[in-house]
Amino acid sequence: MKFPRVIQGGMGVGVSGWQLARATSKRGQIGVVSGTALDIVLARRLQLGDPGGHMRRALSTFPDRGLAHRVLDRYFIEGGKESGRPFSAKPMIGHELSRQLEELMVAANFVEVTLAKEGHDGWVGINYLHKIQAPLLPSPYGAMLAGVDIVIVGAGIPLDIPQILDSLTRGEPASLQLHVAGSTSGAVHRMTFDPSRLFAEPLAPPPRPRFFPIVSSVTLASLLLKKCQGKVDGWIVEGPTAGGHNAPPRGSSPLSPAGEPVYGPRDAIDLPAIAALGLPFWLAGSYGSREKLGEALAAGAAGIQVGTLFAFCEESGLTADLKRKFIERCRESAPQVHTDPVASPTGFPFKVPAMPGTLSDPEVYAKRKRRCDLGYLREAYTLPDGTLGWRCAAENPPTYVFKGGRIEDTVGRKCLCNGLLANIGLAQVRDGKEEPPLLTCGDDLSAIVPLLSAGKDSYGAGDVIDALLAGDVAHK
Ligand SMILES: Cc1cc2nc3c(=O)[nH]c(=O)nc-3n(C[C@H](O)[C@H](O)[C@H](O)COP(=O)(O)O)c2cc1C
Repeated sequence: MKFPRVIQGGMGVGVSGWQLARATSKRGQIGVVSGTALDIVLARRLQLGDPGGHMRRALSTFPDRGLAHRVLDRYFIEGGKESGRPFSAKPMIGHELSRQLEELMVAANFVEVTLAKEGHDGWVGINYLHKIQAPLLPSPYGAMLAGVDIVIVGAGIPLDIPQILDSLTRGEPASLQLHVAGSTSGAVHRMTFDPSRLFAEPLAPPPRPRFFPIVSSVTLASLLLKKCQGKVDGWIVEGPTAGGHNAPPRGSSPLSPAGEPVYGPRDAIDLPAIAALGLPFWLAGSYGSREKLGEALAAGAAGIQVGTLFAFCEESGLTADLKRKFIERCRESAPQVHTDPVASPTGFPFKVPAMPGTLSDPEVYAKRKRRCDLGYLREAYTLPDGTLGWRCAAENPPTYVFKGGRIEDTVGRKCLCNGLLANIGLAQVRDGKEEPPLLTCGDDLSAIVPLLSAGKDSYGAGDVIDALLAGDVAHK
């Protein structure tokens, strides 16, 4: 099987939305929508009145009309909510998903993939974070109903995903074991999703997408090959300079003087050993140039996965204002990108560029009242009676400590849920003010400005692909 050279990386929340993935796939490469928090993305887009009618167009093709209507009835506001009014809440994720939430997740994933696949027959993938476990059952099912080609999963050890995909393909219940912080009791908490329960009539079983885990070591890749009960079809091999979350360094070396994790020789990825595993792989993390593509191919890779260059292109979901300001700053001198070891409540390092007006700005950060009202990055913990509670290290510290968390784990945490939604124009409004955004990008920003043609202050996904594939005759 000959795969495209370029994967446009999944970028949450909504940065790699359907428009970007579609633009990439139409150019013969692999467009990937972010599957993170798509339930709230759909609920909020509908509350904005669904400008352009895209959500409703995709929902009108959902195989169960009743389910699609219920989602519209709950969230759609004709003409959009009044500006300055908050978005209404939707149920938070937990260890038991309500039927309402399962329906929203299935519908939202179906919508995003349906739109990304509209009008072409190219490859479309979807990206999930393994750390956000609860949606990992209904979400891929919705994407599979829309014919998603590849499921890509990072931020964790996705041993359970192949089996989940196999069960869903057969229309059977799928389940996963929930990670519970500090659990020593040996109690196992499983979540189950039964697709047949959601629909009035049984649906035709969807085809099984390929599964590409994101790995940062040959050790993890080998473990997945050995332990997964189901097929792994390829790898995204990502190094620590990539945008978004990074795998922590191996071992426990102290932070650098700038307060960043230090990666050493033990973190170097053994590419010949990855190649020897015999599956196609794409290299990610500062591979966004034709020269780096050449290097990747020479190492036996099928190609590269690129995020940062696509994040700031016209088709990305970031607001036009954030993109314009970021590109302007890159023109002056590239913003400092900090690999923040504590910003993300997941505990993984998270890349944050210095941008005034965003949560990277100490003044903006200090002014924001800490709260947790979206809860995607909460962790489960055991209450004294053996039931489960949920807490987030970025929530109000006294609340976190009341729930058994450690005060030192709250220091410097940022609310990624609210910040990332603000990035894409879906900020919650509180007392008339919007939640501040929080950008992420990779370490290497050097290829952004050269993408701007003379007199222009923006570039398209096609410009990125052309630059990456320039001179690559085989893939013209
Ligand atoms: C804005 C942004 C958001 C990202 N979000 C995710 C994500 O949700 N899940 C994921 O697996 N990778 C995420 N990534 C990583 C990309 O998919 C890709 O692997 C990475 O950006 C490649 O390195 P580069 O940034 O140097 O091009 C994100 C990257 C960026 C720039």
